[in-house]
Amino acid sequence: MHEHIDWDKLWRESLLSSSWMRRRGSVNAAFFWDSRAQQYYQGIKRRKQATTMLVHSIAEKLNLSQRDTILEIGPGPGTFTIPFSKMVKHITVVEPSKGMIEALRRYMAEEGVSNITVINKHWEEILPHVDVDVHDVVFAAHSLVMLDLKDAVKKMNSLARRFVCAIMFAHRPQGNIYRKLWPLLHGEEYRPSPTYIYLYNLLYQMGICANVEIIERTVFEHYPSLEKAVEEWLKWLQAENPSQEAIDTLKSQLLKTAKFTMQGVVLARKFLEAVVWWKPR
Ligand SMILES: C[S@@+](CC[C@H](N)C(=O)[O-])C[C@H]1O[C@@H](n2cnc3c(N)ncnc32)[C@H](O)[C@@H]1O
Repeated sequence: MHEHIDWDKLWRESLLSSSWMRRRGSVNAAFFWDSRAQQYYQGIKRRKQATTMLVHSIAEKLNLSQRDTILEIGPGPGTFTIPFSKMVKHITVVEPSKGMIEALRRYMAEEGVSNITVINKHWEEILPHVDVDVHDVVFAAHSLVMLDLKDAVKKMNSLARRFVCAIMFAHRPQGNIYRKLWPLLHGEEYRPSPTYIYLYNLLYQMGICANVEIIERTVFEHYPSLEKAVEEWLKWLQAENPSQEAIDTLKSQLLKTAKFTMQGVVLARKFLEAVVWWKPR
């Protein structure tokens, strides 16, 4: 029976009905991510240490060496790109958002990294062997937001020599905060974006038995004060005129993991992510 489940279609439906996609209003990722680039950049700096650990674990799985090349889809400000660039020969990134590219270039300069080529396009627009050639590894972290997942995966396979690897959420990130706050801020229930399970099943139907590792990370984020953390969260959630109830709800959620220090406040965030990797075919 399960052979008849159309995972590509289920993915599209789930993505289209998810709260973030509905808020974005269109599938044009570039405009949406331009407006979030600077805040995202500050965020990844706060999570740098936890990311480095994940990068090392992926490098081991993919057996990365200084001879390798990586083609990365949607690098954002370089969350994974920068640490990977120090382990491999070259990275080509495909990133539609100019704001994200600007943040990436800033991060590259700060870290003295120069082995990255940037292509300012959506993955859907990429013409294999015209825009970009085969790389050892094709990699995507939290960037498979294409409506046609199957087409995106086929293209990834066609441009990977050794491995394709994707990082996606394995459950609903920030479950409670989003579920409680979203209705107060946007007047509707929060619908999470689809998780890795769609990709895994789609791959299976394409004849690919992918490897999966579920990784739980606790990330400690430092803010100068709780008020600043609340301000950043509200900005991230695109709260235009938040009610006092929304602000109080957010504060009480953040306080659950808050530790106050001389420098401000440290908030712990738990991420449950899936690393999915497979040999292209
Ligand atoms: C959530 S951010 C992830 C950034 C980074 N990979 C990380 O894990 O922190 C998603 C990124 O994917 C990019 N993106 C969205 N749609 C894309 C598409 N169709 N093709 C390529 N990149 C895309 C966005 O511009 C953004 O930089």
